[in-house]
Amino acid sequence: MNGDARKTAEALTYLSGFGNEHSSEAVPGALPIGRNSPQRAPLGLYAEQLSGSAFTEPRERNRRSWLYRIRPSAAHPAFARTDNGTLRTAPFTQTAPDPNRLRWNPLPEPEPGTDFVRGLWTLGGNGDAAQRTGMAVHLYHANSSMKRVFSDADGELLIVPERGGLLLRTEFGLLHAEPGHVALIPRGVRFRVELLDDAVRGYVCENYGAPFQLPELGPIGANGLAAARDFRAPVAAYEDVEGPVEVVNKFCGNLWTATYDHSPLDVVAWHGSHLPYVYDLRRFNVLGSISYDHPDPSIFTVLTSPTDTPGLAGVDFVVFAPRWLVGEDTFRPPYFHRNVMSEYMGLIEGAYDAKAEGFVPGGGSLHNMMSAHGPDRETFDRASAAELRPQKVDDGLAFMFETRWPMTLTAQAARAEHLQRAYDDVWQGLERHFGPLH
Ligand SMILES: [Fe+2]
Repeated sequence: MNGDARKTAEALTYLSGFGNEHSSEAVPGALPIGRNSPQRAPLGLYAEQLSGSAFTEPRERNRRSWLYRIRPSAAHPAFARTDNGTLRTAPFTQTAPDPNRLRWNPLPEPEPGTDFVRGLWTLGGNGDAAQRTGMAVHLYHANSSMKRVFSDADGELLIVPERGGLLLRTEFGLLHAEPGHVALIPRGVRFRVELLDDAVRGYVCENYGAPFQLPELGPIGANGLAAARDFRAPVAAYEDVEGPVEVVNKFCGNLWTATYDHSPLDVVAWHGSHLPYVYDLRRFNVLGSISYDHPDPSIFTVLTSPTDTPGLAGVDFVVFAPRWLVGEDTFRPPYFHRNVMSEYMGLIEGAYDAKAEGFVPGGGSLHNMMSAHGPDRETFDRASAAELRPQKVDDGLAFMFETRWPMTLTAQAARAEHLQRAYDDVWQGLERHFGPLH
């Protein structure tokens, strides 16, 4: 569909490393040396700081970047409210929190001319965006590249493509995300999504809380799970466009729009730590049991948004990537359980090893706080009888947004045509096998 964009995407180079203090300049000499805000910034650029954390947060949590741009971000007209479409924001109050296990098919095809922002469809979430707590689960579908520019003051966006490639033009430069990759756009960073295929679809976790970070590794040691160096940040690239550009700003749950007289993607050089990234989920170093039992899925955490309580995440992003199962005397699929945490699961490709059918790429399931779930009957029967040879699970890529607070659905998710009406049936027919010994 967009051959030039694909050519651009496939030729991109990146900077390697999560949480690093990176720097980049698209024009030699654009980045000041030895200071952030010289009396006159190089090349006639404006210096501007973008703070992703409070100035005084501890060093390990402090995120900020310095941008050297053609015009300062302050040079814009007033924003005016515009239609929120199918985008919703916490607090979610349209429905009563639902204890039922719920599952959806993929979103229907979008109307012609739907861009990424228009194609965002909110399933639900928790917390309160204005309090910077909690998260939202969105799905997206689009068939048109954005002409406008978007930024989200309410949270960072973890974009999980399921169908079709994306070229993300950000203030910091360009990122390429295909299904199997994730893209992380920090709070407040402006970007435009161009499509590399005719139709795209996927998931978005909007994290209102503390920025995602790599999980602690504890006894695992210094290596394992997602490697910091596999997160790739863009190199500086800028647009020098004079002319009307629509900029949409999501602020405390509403979309606001303004027409600038230039592109705000005009950053010629930058340095800092408040940065977008792409990460290839297939690079995840999957760890698991080499003796017995199925580890808790926290072993698959890619990124975590911590809260004030150690170990209790606002949201964890967890991937179920190809792996070997070798446990002896072990029921190898995910076990039956009830969880104080709430789990939204999606499927990027293939199948998931706890569900024989009905959980399809582009669909998703919600197992809210303390709801009982686990393998379906077919999976239980098969895994209980399977010969326990080493087994490669390599036919799917699933993920989970797991959060400490129960999720409340939007009205559109609760009454969606694509909500499966008979999800409970997958646990019907689990027969009693109990019998006294004799
Ligand atoms: Fe679970």
